[in-house]
Amino acid sequence: MISYLNGHYLPKGEIAISPDDRGFLFADGLYEVMRSYDGEIFQPQAHIERLSYGAEQLRFQQMEFSFLIEVAEELIGRNQLNRGDAIIYIQVTRGIAPRLHKFPPPGTSLTVYATIRPFQPKTDEMTEGINVIFVPDQRWARTDIKSIGLLPNVLAQQRAMENNAAEAVFIRDGAITEGTRSNFFAVIGGTVITRPRTNYILAGITRKMVIEICQKSSIPFQERSIFETEAHEAQELFIAGTTVEVTPVVQIEGKNVGNGKPGPITMKLQKAFAELVHGTIEVTEKNFRNKY
Ligand code: PDD
Repeated sequence: MISYLNGHYLPKGEIAISPDDRGFLFADGLYEVMRSYDGEIFQPQAHIERLSYGAEQLRFQQMEFSFLIEVAEELIGRNQLNRGDAIIYIQVTRGIAPRLHKFPPPGTSLTVYATIRPFQPKTDEMTEGINVIFVPDQRWARTDIKSIGLLPNVLAQQRAMENNAAEAVFIRDGAITEGTRSNFFAVIGGTVITRPRTNYILAGITRKMVIEICQKSSIPFQERSIFETEAHEAQELFIAGTTVEVTPVVQIEGKNVGNGKPGPITMKLQKAFAELVHGTIEVTEKNFRNKY
């Protein structure tokens, strides 16, 4: 794959990163995962805005990253990924400097890396639903920043795999925050519910689109905490994210949610999201009611 590093395009295998890179030494960096559908990047501006927000919060020297949309388009073209799905990965770190905790000297350039790979969505999980486990949220209190420091997510996801679950869902003070790589939703009494945006969750772009679909198609929607106990009783659960889109959660630790089948509201949202992504319909109440 042709990848990008600091203004240059070159084969991924030829990319060399300094051992003094602050991403390597301190996880002092940010990342984004964007998806392209037949060469069309989904919501690129929203990803760049989130990256800029993170850069501002981490006091990076540079906060303007809109050029990365062109870089991503270039990667699609150079790697001939205009057909099918692809995942574009972007990582920005505070640059290269001797290992001292404080910021490097002014003028130290950020390290900007981007790569791409073809992507096969897990259609079986999207149609049949997944099992999840609940794990304590041991992450830091700024998970609104898409930091590359993902150890709690790595450990939780590994535990999920070892327990035949596709995702681990974090619990903080008895309430669900989010998944290791997704936002979490419940359907309770016909209302779609998700945790409000705070410093404890990532402002997911898929989450935002799901909320917009609910609002435009008059599906009752509420932002509030979902307690762990409530999740077990919910009619439907689902996760949302760039890689999982809208994926039903049908079991928690092997126990059925509802009847153990993907719920009707979840599946409607999944379809509406797919159509939005492929640009085939504008989601409005009328279209939604007529189609689903
Ligand atoms: N993860 N919450 C967390 C902790 C995430 O890591 C992600 C995305 C999301 C969903 O955000 P979005 O809808 O913008 O993808 C929520 C990416 C895909 C990853 O780490 O691979």
